[in-house]
Amino acid sequence: MADTERTLADLVELAPDAPIQFFDLKSQQASIRGALETRWSDILDHGRYIGGPEVTELEEKLCEFTGAADAVAVGSGTQALVMPMIGLGYGYGDAVFVPGFTYNASANAVLLAGATPVFVDIDPVTFNMCPEDLERRVKQVAKQRNLRAKAVMPVDLYGLPADYERIGAVADQYGLQIISDAAQSFGGQSGNKRVGALASITATSFYPTKTLGGYGDGGAVLTTDKGIGEMLRSIRWHGTGEDRKNSIRVGLNGRCDSIQCAVVAEKLSIFEDERARRLTVDALYREQLQGVVGMQSQFSESRMESASACGLFTIRVAERDRVRAELTEKGIPTSIYYDTPLHRMPAFEHFNPAGGLRECERASEEVLSLPMHPYLSTGQVARICEGVLGAVRR
Ligand SMILES: Cc1ncc(COP(=O)(O)O)c(C=O)c1O
Repeated sequence: MADTERTLADLVELAPDAPIQFFDLKSQQASIRGALETRWSDILDHGRYIGGPEVTELEEKLCEFTGAADAVAVGSGTQALVMPMIGLGYGYGDAVFVPGFTYNASANAVLLAGATPVFVDIDPVTFNMCPEDLERRVKQVAKQRNLRAKAVMPVDLYGLPADYERIGAVADQYGLQIISDAAQSFGGQSGNKRVGALASITATSFYPTKTLGGYGDGGAVLTTDKGIGEMLRSIRWHGTGEDRKNSIRVGLNGRCDSIQCAVVAEKLSIFEDERARRLTVDALYREQLQGVVGMQSQFSESRMESASACGLFTIRVAERDRVRAELTEKGIPTSIYYDTPLHRMPAFEHFNPAGGLRECERASEEVLSLPMHPYLSTGQVARICEGVLGAVRR
């Protein structure tokens, strides 16, 4: 059988003793390579490298999959965060509430839009924004003359949707716009709604290692508001109107090119299978590591129904460096997302809240991510768990 025809199930159990990869884009490529080569050849034939039919195809498929009313493909996840804030006119003195424990892009996006990040602590169980701390900080901002509370940017860390119900209640009470940073959570859901339909504006990333990754940079804004979609189509083309010449608002080159849209559209065709396998790997980890190490949990009281996109599988361990070194020695790759909370990074120190952010700081000292991708075999997961249990019990 040719590599291009291998199914995910074939690939998973192909070599249970093979070296373990932290992410595995190579195995994935084997199942779609033929289809991708056909698509690339189509693009070379039609020659519309920018704004080709693949862009609309992807946008329609994203709406169909997520339940969003509109989807706008853009150049990266960071652009997907910045562009709505530019369109909504955020600027000097506008406060956007961001968790202190996330990728730096979340805070960079706020600053690039000219607004001010206000860091919020996280829930120690979910690693996502803590709704109570959000409310506390919104009230603090209300007392400051130089800031206006404008928006909140929950981040779905490691793939687990943030608590949109409780964050939504705070947002409604204080009139905040929600801009969801779902760079890591495409495919996740909460109740019967998928990521993309959980907030009026959702930004996702197609960085190659994301759950719906392309083979280069890309991203999308998913929105429940068609008006926002129209505005973003203008912004991604330098703020132009239909003539694509005269700028009717400020914009930038925020486009996603035809080749990248084709890759992501093709990847959507295997996405459900990949997602099912991610959920299986997640369940295997939970079963085998139960009670021994702290794991990011979906089960924070009020939201039993949340389902992670399983972008990363992250545990909490004491003596992380030693555990990590032992795992490396056994051929088990690991990674740390993130070893520095944003308020401690030089670029954002200026926004460090008085007293710091206790849970963000603790998480940054303890988190360790284990390999997570749909092509891990059951045997490989068992080897990883055996390694982790051996290292943490020492
Ligand atoms: C939480 C988070 N936000 C934003 C981004 C930015 O996405 P991109 O790298 O596509 O710009 C990423 C990923 O890299 C991310 O993990």
